[in-house]
Amino acid sequence: MWFSKSHFKPSGKTAVIVGASQGLGTELALKLYEQNCSVILIARTTANLQKQISRIEATVCKPATATLSYISGDVSKYSEAARMWDEIFDSNVDPDYIFCCAGSSIPKLFDDLTSDELAGGIGINYGTALNFVHSGFKKIKSANSTTLYKDYKPRHVIFFSSVLAFYPFIGYAQYAPMKSALMSLSVILRQELGPYNFRVSCAFPGNFQSEGYDQEELTKPKITKTIEGASDAITAAECADLILDKLGKGYDTITTDFIGWVLGCSVLGVLPRTWSVFQILVSLIFLMVAPIGNWVVYRDVLKFFESAASHQSSVGDNSIGDRVSEDIDGVASGVDSRSDATTNRKPSN
Ligand SMILES: NC(=O)c1ccc[n+]([C@@H]2O[C@H](COP(=O)([O-])OP(=O)(O)OC[C@H]3O[C@@H](n4cnc5c(N)ncnc54)[C@H](OP(=O)(O)O)[C@@H]3O)[C@@H](O)[C@H]2O)c1
Repeated sequence: MWFSKSHFKPSGKTAVIVGASQGLGTELALKLYEQNCSVILIARTTANLQKQISRIEATVCKPATATLSYISGDVSKYSEAARMWDEIFDSNVDPDYIFCCAGSSIPKLFDDLTSDELAGGIGINYGTALNFVHSGFKKIKSANSTTLYKDYKPRHVIFFSSVLAFYPFIGYAQYAPMKSALMSLSVILRQELGPYNFRVSCAFPGNFQSEGYDQEELTKPKITKTIEGASDAITAAECADLILDKLGKGYDTITTDFIGWVLGCSVLGVLPRTWSVFQILVSLIFLMVAPIGNWVVYRDVLKFFESAASHQSSVGDNSIGDRVSEDIDGVASGVDSRSDATTNRKPSN
């Protein structure tokens, strides 16, 4: 409930965060450690993990009992995820919270994506979460082989999807479908792990500042920016606060801004609700206006391709894709990303 904070009490517990060497993962680590929660940070780059641990220790007054540690490895490989769980249990730790925060997007037109980028999108955005939770559940089960399923201690899995799972659009083919897959996985695991006393939450953040976000801006096609409109990115620290606050209020479908909540109303389905009466009302409006919205967006897309094609024929350029890459470097475009009347409809990510 909105007035309650009793559903997430990390003091004295242990969290493992996949994707904690930068961005949101690190901020979550800092905020949990501040609340006397031990944190295991996971990512591929050892030097960054060590740097973040030093930063957190320098920022936060030493909590009563909490500790910080890290494990490095590529969680998109199942064997690596399983190896990490062995390491965690070998040190007599049985995490209470499993944050699956790894993820990154390479926004490009479908035609411009390489096969490596497509495979990386699946591995990082879906594989890391799937591998880590599956291998972790297997480990937990083998460590509790004599315990009846309903006597398992409470555990909590938190997936990190994106508002793009609610509203996918041009430029995010490498990313948004994986975030929808996470949304789907969260529904299934709520049923399959629930009997073992797991709570399963899924966050759908809008834009926030991070190293990953800055990287995205470098390849983002102009048309993608046009459809997104001007949306201010909050800081990763603010995003972490919002998510922890909503977990405390007991919400399991978590958005970080109003537009995210509104877009979430378009796909309510069997997702856990937040302000459900209002969501039903907004979803009714969506049912009526969505075809018009689609028409407006597609009109922008066609305008973009027409503009790109006319530029292509005037300069003897090769492809729409090349044209889009040049846009990023500031070459003239027929579609102005900020002045179009149809901007400001959508947040990113
Ligand atoms: N930033 C946004 O605007 C935004 C919006 C909506 C949703 N999100 C989602 O929120 C989450 C956090 O975003 P962010 O912007 O903070 O991300 P970020 O800055 O790109 O950080 C991603 C983290 O994941 C780790 N990682 C990547 N691949 C990994 C792998 N195979 N194995 C282990 N660790 C891996 C990275 O470290 P290494 O490279 O060292 O492995 C890094 O610590 C992501 O799931 C993202 O998709 C972000």
